[in-house]
Amino acid sequence: MADDATGPDARPPSTGRRLHRLRRRWDREAGAYDRAMAVAERRLFPGVRQQVCALAQGRTLEVAVGTGLNLAHYPAAVVAAGLTGVEWSPAMLDHARRRAADLDLDVDLRLGDAQDLDLPDGAFDTVVCTFSLCAIADHEAALAEMARVVRPGGLVLLADHVVSTSWPLRLGQAVAELVSVPLAGEHFRRRPLRWVEEHGLDVERHERSRRGVIEWVAARTPARPAP
Ligand SMILES: C[S@@+](CC[C@H](N)C(=O)[O-])C[C@H]1O[C@@H](n2cnc3c(N)ncnc32)[C@H](O)[C@@H]1O
Repeated sequence: MADDATGPDARPPSTGRRLHRLRRRWDREAGAYDRAMAVAERRLFPGVRQQVCALAQGRTLEVAVGTGLNLAHYPAAVVAAGLTGVEWSPAMLDHARRRAADLDLDVDLRLGDAQDLDLPDGAFDTVVCTFSLCAIADHEAALAEMARVVRPGGLVLLADHVVSTSWPLRLGQAVAELVSVPLAGEHFRRRPLRWVEEHGLDVERHERSRRGVIEWVAARTPARPAP
Protein backbone atom coordinates (compact mmCIF):
# COMPACT_ATOMS: atom_id res chain seq x y z
CA MET A 1 0.00 0.00 0.00
CA ALA A 2 1.57 3.32 -1.02
CA ASP A 3 1.77 6.21 1.46
CA ASP A 4 0.00 8.55 -0.94
CA ALA A 5 -3.07 6.33 -1.26
CA THR A 6 -6.48 7.85 -0.77
CA GLY A 7 -9.29 6.78 1.58
CA PRO A 8 -8.30 5.22 4.90
CA ASP A 9 -4.61 5.38 3.88
CA ALA A 10 -4.62 9.08 3.06
CA ARG A 11 -2.74 10.33 6.13
CA PRO A 12 1.03 9.85 5.92
CA PRO A 13 2.50 8.32 9.08
CA SER A 14 5.33 9.90 11.10
CA THR A 15 7.85 11.83 9.11
CA GLY A 16 11.52 12.45 9.89
CA ARG A 17 14.52 10.45 8.71
CA ARG A 18 14.86 8.24 11.77
CA LEU A 19 11.18 7.35 11.85
CA HIS A 20 11.26 6.73 8.11
CA ARG A 21 14.17 4.32 8.60
CA LEU A 22 12.38 2.52 11.45
CA ARG A 23 9.21 2.17 9.43
CA ARG A 24 11.14 0.74 6.48
CA ARG A 25 12.68 -1.77 8.85
CA TRP A 26 9.20 -3.09 9.65
CA ASP A 27 8.44 -3.20 5.94
CA ARG A 28 11.50 -5.40 5.41
CA GLU A 29 10.66 -7.67 8.35
CA ALA A 30 7.01 -8.14 7.48
CA GLY A 31 7.53 -11.42 5.56
CA ALA A 32 9.43 -13.10 8.40
CA TYR A 33 7.51 -11.57 11.30
CA ASP A 34 4.92 -14.29 11.93
CA ARG A 35 7.53 -17.07 12.08
CA ALA A 36 9.78 -15.13 14.47
CA MET A 37 6.81 -14.12 16.63
CA ALA A 38 5.52 -17.72 16.80
CA VAL A 39 8.78 -18.83 18.44
CA ALA A 40 8.78 -15.93 20.95
CA GLU A 41 5.12 -16.50 21.68
CA ARG A 42 5.51 -20.23 22.39
CA ARG A 43 8.46 -19.68 24.70
CA LEU A 44 7.60 -16.41 26.44
CA PHE A 45 3.93 -15.56 26.36
CA PRO A 46 1.70 -18.46 25.36
CA GLY A 47 -1.97 -17.56 25.60
CA VAL A 48 -1.48 -13.85 26.28
CA ARG A 49 -2.97 -12.69 22.96
CA GLN A 50 -6.01 -14.89 23.53
CA GLN A 51 -6.52 -13.65 27.11
CA VAL A 52 -6.18 -9.99 26.18
CA CYS A 53 -8.33 -10.05 23.04
CA ALA A 54 -11.08 -12.00 24.81
CA LEU A 55 -11.59 -8.97 27.11
CA ALA A 56 -12.32 -6.55 24.24
CA GLN A 57 -15.87 -5.24 24.09
CA GLY A 58 -17.81 -3.13 21.63
CA ARG A 59 -16.18 -0.85 19.02
CA THR A 60 -12.51 -1.78 19.20
CA LEU A 61 -9.32 -0.20 17.90
CA GLU A 62 -6.07 -2.12 17.68
CA VAL A 63 -3.06 0.21 17.57
CA ALA A 64 0.04 -0.98 15.63
CA VAL A 65 -1.84 -4.04 14.46
CA GLY A 66 1.23 -5.44 12.66
CA THR A 67 0.45 -8.51 10.55
CA GLY A 68 -2.85 -8.97 12.39
CA LEU A 69 -1.84 -11.83 14.67
CA ASN A 70 -4.59 -10.85 17.12
CA LEU A 71 -7.37 -10.80 14.55
CA ALA A 72 -8.31 -14.44 15.04
CA HIS A 73 -8.71 -13.95 18.79
CA TYR A 74 -11.36 -11.21 19.03
CA PRO A 75 -14.88 -12.24 20.06
CA ALA A 76 -17.33 -12.30 17.13
CA ALA A 77 -19.35 -9.56 18.88
CA VAL A 78 -16.34 -7.22 18.67
CA VAL A 79 -15.97 -7.80 14.94
CA ALA A 80 -19.70 -7.21 14.55
CA ALA A 81 -19.53 -3.95 16.56
CA GLY A 82 -16.61 -2.69 14.44
CA LEU A 83 -12.92 -3.57 14.62
CA THR A 84 -10.36 -1.05 13.35
CA GLY A 85 -6.61 -1.60 13.12
CA VAL A 86 -3.96 1.07 12.58
CA GLU A 87 -0.41 0.31 11.44
CA TRP A 88 2.33 2.54 10.00
CA SER A 89 4.20 -0.08 7.93
CA PRO A 90 2.48 -0.64 4.58
CA ALA A 91 4.03 -4.14 4.29
CA MET A 92 2.88 -5.22 7.77
CA LEU A 93 -0.55 -3.81 6.96
CA ASP A 94 -0.73 -5.80 3.72
CA HIS A 95 -0.16 -8.98 5.71
CA ALA A 96 -2.88 -7.99 8.18
CA ARG A 97 -5.31 -7.35 5.34
CA ARG A 98 -4.56 -10.73 3.79
CA ARG A 99 -5.06 -12.40 7.16
CA ALA A 100 -8.41 -10.64 7.63
CA ALA A 101 -9.49 -11.80 4.17
CA ASP A 102 -8.38 -15.39 4.93
CA LEU A 103 -10.35 -15.30 8.19
CA ASP A 104 -13.31 -13.75 6.35
CA LEU A 105 -13.37 -10.82 8.78
CA ASP A 106 -14.93 -7.52 7.82
CA VAL A 107 -12.53 -5.13 9.57
CA ASP A 108 -11.14 -1.66 8.86
CA LEU A 109 -7.35 -1.89 8.58
CA ARG A 110 -5.69 1.42 7.81
CA LEU A 111 -2.33 3.10 7.56
CA GLY A 112 -1.67 5.53 10.41
CA ASP A 113 0.64 6.68 13.15
CA ALA A 114 0.03 5.48 16.71
CA GLN A 115 1.51 8.75 18.00
CA ASP A 116 -0.98 10.88 16.09
CA LEU A 117 -4.15 8.91 15.41
CA ASP A 118 -6.42 10.30 12.74
CA LEU A 119 -9.48 9.25 14.74
CA PRO A 120 -12.01 11.23 16.79
CA ASP A 121 -12.05 11.50 20.58
CA GLY A 122 -13.99 8.81 22.42
CA ALA A 123 -14.77 6.81 19.29
CA PHE A 124 -14.03 3.35 20.73
CA ASP A 125 -15.17 1.21 23.65
CA THR A 126 -11.85 -0.67 23.73
CA VAL A 127 -8.32 0.07 22.56
CA VAL A 128 -5.80 -2.78 22.27
CA CYS A 129 -2.04 -2.59 21.80
CA THR A 130 0.13 -5.72 21.99
CA PHE A 131 3.91 -5.98 21.73
CA SER A 132 4.18 -2.59 20.04
CA LEU A 133 4.79 -0.02 22.79
CA CYS A 134 8.36 -1.42 22.88
CA ALA A 135 8.74 -0.33 19.25
CA ILE A 136 6.79 2.92 18.96
CA ALA A 137 9.28 5.80 19.10
CA ASP A 138 7.22 7.99 21.47
CA HIS A 139 5.26 5.37 23.38
CA GLU A 140 3.84 7.92 25.83
CA ALA A 141 2.37 9.93 22.94
CA ALA A 142 0.82 6.67 21.69
CA LEU A 143 -0.65 5.92 25.12
CA ALA A 144 -2.08 9.45 25.30
CA GLU A 145 -3.67 8.93 21.89
CA MET A 146 -5.18 5.62 23.02
CA ALA A 147 -6.68 7.31 26.09
CA ARG A 148 -8.05 10.09 23.84
CA VAL A 149 -9.82 7.85 21.32
CA VAL A 150 -11.37 5.49 23.87
CA ARG A 151 -14.64 6.70 25.40
CA PRO A 152 -14.74 7.77 29.05
CA GLY A 153 -14.99 4.56 31.06
CA GLY A 154 -13.63 2.59 28.10
CA LEU A 155 -11.13 -0.23 28.21
CA VAL A 156 -7.41 -0.07 27.40
CA LEU A 157 -5.76 -3.48 26.92
CA LEU A 158 -1.96 -3.59 26.75
CA ALA A 159 0.53 -6.45 26.53
CA ASP A 160 4.27 -6.14 26.06
CA HIS A 161 7.74 -7.13 27.11
CA VAL A 162 8.84 -4.70 29.82
CA VAL A 163 11.67 -4.06 32.26
CA SER A 164 12.44 -7.20 34.29
CA THR A 165 12.03 -7.59 38.06
CA SER A 166 15.41 -9.39 38.15
CA TRP A 167 18.48 -7.15 38.30
CA PRO A 168 20.76 -9.40 36.15
CA LEU A 169 18.08 -9.42 33.46
CA ARG A 170 17.64 -5.65 33.79
CA LEU A 171 21.37 -5.28 33.25
CA GLY A 172 21.12 -7.45 30.12
CA GLN A 173 18.18 -5.37 28.92
CA ALA A 174 20.17 -2.14 29.43
CA VAL A 175 23.10 -3.56 27.45
CA ALA A 176 20.82 -4.87 24.69
CA GLU A 177 19.21 -1.42 24.35
CA LEU A 178 22.60 0.14 23.57
CA VAL A 179 22.30 -1.61 20.21
CA SER A 180 18.58 -2.27 19.78
CA VAL A 181 17.37 1.30 20.31
CA PRO A 182 19.64 3.06 17.78
CA LEU A 183 19.50 0.22 15.24
CA ALA A 184 15.94 -1.01 15.48
CA GLY A 185 14.01 1.36 17.76
CA GLU A 186 13.40 -1.59 20.11
CA HIS A 187 13.11 -0.82 23.86
CA PHE A 188 13.42 -3.41 26.62
CA ARG A 189 13.04 -1.29 29.76
CA ARG A 190 9.74 0.48 29.23
CA ARG A 191 6.76 -0.15 31.48
CA PRO A 192 3.41 1.10 30.08
CA LEU A 193 1.67 0.25 33.39
CA ARG A 194 3.45 3.23 35.00
CA TRP A 195 1.89 5.61 32.46
CA VAL A 196 -1.50 3.99 32.98
CA GLU A 197 -1.33 4.49 36.75
CA GLU A 198 0.09 8.01 36.55
CA HIS A 199 -2.73 9.08 34.23
CA GLY A 200 -5.53 7.92 36.49
CA LEU A 201 -6.71 4.84 34.62
CA ASP A 202 -8.25 2.19 36.82
CA VAL A 203 -6.34 -1.10 36.52
CA GLU A 204 -8.88 -3.95 36.47
CA ARG A 205 -6.52 -6.82 35.65
CA HIS A 206 -2.79 -7.12 35.60
CA GLU A 207 -0.52 -10.14 35.06
CA ARG A 208 3.26 -10.27 34.99
CA SER A 209 5.37 -13.36 34.22
CA ARG A 210 8.80 -14.54 33.05
CA ARG A 211 10.74 -12.65 35.74
CA GLY A 212 8.59 -9.63 35.11
CA VAL A 213 9.46 -9.38 31.43
CA ILE A 214 5.97 -10.14 30.12
CA GLU A 215 3.17 -7.93 31.38
CA TRP A 216 -0.41 -7.36 30.39
CA VAL A 217 -2.89 -4.88 31.76
CA ALA A 218 -6.60 -4.21 31.43
CA ALA A 219 -7.43 -0.66 32.57
CA ARG A 220 -10.37 1.70 32.30
CA THR A 221 -10.22 5.41 31.54
CA PRO A 222 -12.05 7.58 34.10
CA ALA A 223 -15.78 7.92 33.49
CA ARG A 224 -16.80 11.45 32.50
CA PRO A 225 -17.18 13.55 35.68
CA ALA A 226 -20.78 14.34 36.60
CA PRO A 227 -21.82 17.85 35.35
C1 LIG B 1 6.56 -6.06 17.38
S1 LIG B 1 5.40 -5.52 16.19
C2 LIG B 1 3.84 -5.96 16.99
C3 LIG B 1 2.72 -6.14 16.00
C4 LIG B 1 1.40 -6.63 16.60
N1 LIG B 1 0.84 -5.64 17.49
C5 LIG B 1 1.55 -7.96 17.32
O1 LIG B 1 1.08 -8.08 18.46
O2 LIG B 1 2.08 -8.89 16.71
C6 LIG B 1 5.44 -3.77 16.38
C7 LIG B 1 4.57 -3.07 15.35
O3 LIG B 1 4.48 -1.69 15.70
C8 LIG B 1 4.42 -0.96 14.48
N2 LIG B 1 4.71 0.45 14.77
C9 LIG B 1 5.85 0.97 15.27
N3 LIG B 1 5.73 2.30 15.40
C10 LIG B 1 4.49 2.63 14.97
C11 LIG B 1 3.78 3.85 14.87
N4 LIG B 1 4.32 5.02 15.22
N5 LIG B 1 2.51 3.82 14.40
C12 LIG B 1 1.93 2.65 14.04
N6 LIG B 1 2.57 1.47 14.10
C13 LIG B 1 3.83 1.44 14.58
C14 LIG B 1 5.46 -1.65 13.61
O4 LIG B 1 5.35 -1.31 12.26
C15 LIG B 1 5.13 -3.11 13.93
O5 LIG B 1 4.13 -3.59 13.06
